[in-house]
Amino acid sequence: VEDDVPPQTLESRTLESVAKYITERKVRRIVVMTGAGISTAAGIPDFRSPDTGLYANLARLNLPYAEAVFDISYFRNNPLPFYTLAHELYPGRYRPTVTHCFMKLLYDKGLLLKLFTQNIDCLEREAGVPGEMIVEAHGSFASQRCIECKTEFPDTMMKKAVQEREVPRCLRKTCNGLVKPDIVFFGEALPEAFHRNRTLPAAADLAIIMGTSLSVQPFASLPSYVREETPRILINLERVGGLGSRADDVLLLGECDAGVRKLADALGWLDELEDLWQRT
Ligand code: APR
Repeated sequence: VEDDVPPQTLESRTLESVAKYITERKVRRIVVMTGAGISTAAGIPDFRSPDTGLYANLARLNLPYAEAVFDISYFRNNPLPFYTLAHELYPGRYRPTVTHCFMKLLYDKGLLLKLFTQNIDCLEREAGVPGEMIVEAHGSFASQRCIECKTEFPDTMMKKAVQEREVPRCLRKTCNGLVKPDIVFFGEALPEAFHRNRTLPAAADLAIIMGTSLSVQPFASLPSYVREETPRILINLERVGGLGSRADDVLLLGECDAGVRKLADALGWLDELEDLWQRT
């Protein structure tokens, strides 16, 4: 990287080269990996940002440690902190961001190979990305079941319980176990869909990593499965994971929505993106 080039020029040159790569090399298979940072602009706090992150703001739930709110053994003892949080995070109150719409645009253009998300807010689906294109590595609020006998729990009853901050229990009276959304808690296995698709990044022509601290395994290993010669673009407030260590890595450090707008602009898709976002 030339030191004497002002960052702005360097960035626009970099964006131009990425856009050229996508158009001239007929990139067809873009793998996207995302985290909570793409939904903060929708009003959903992320986890680890110093002041605004969820883990900095759970003190009022007097947890032994912040991540206990998503710990299965803690939940079994005391489900109330999670259900207090669920009331705030439950889908339906938030709108997809420009970043979610950018991923829909990739799909519409036939360029999306797969979208791996750690988010549980279902905003990717709400933006119109088809379910089969998404790997919700940490599950989502889309379904729920008893943690003891695994009996599914009806969506309508779940929505009501969350709205009323009640802790739902298994419908089978002989069981009466706690009901939990199909979100992957610490101590639980990731969905089979994650393991089935985890080598897919090796088939990508381009990887875009957005809004994640890459601090939770095994998701955090996904960018390392991208082939050495495949460019990886990080769009994030801060540099994370091993991104930037490879010759073809591109760092767009800053807000996700600003980053995807710059990338869309370099590709000549900005009007299309803004129009899609207005309609979402
Ligand atoms: N634009 C760009 N980057 C952002 C923005 C934004 N508007 N807002 C936050 N970020 C960045 C932060 O700087 C941070 O690097 O997004 C990242 C968010 O990191 P985390 O809060 O750790 O969220 P995430 O990586 O999704 O967490 C992974 O941890 O608690 C578990 O299961 C939970 O899925 C979650 C996992």
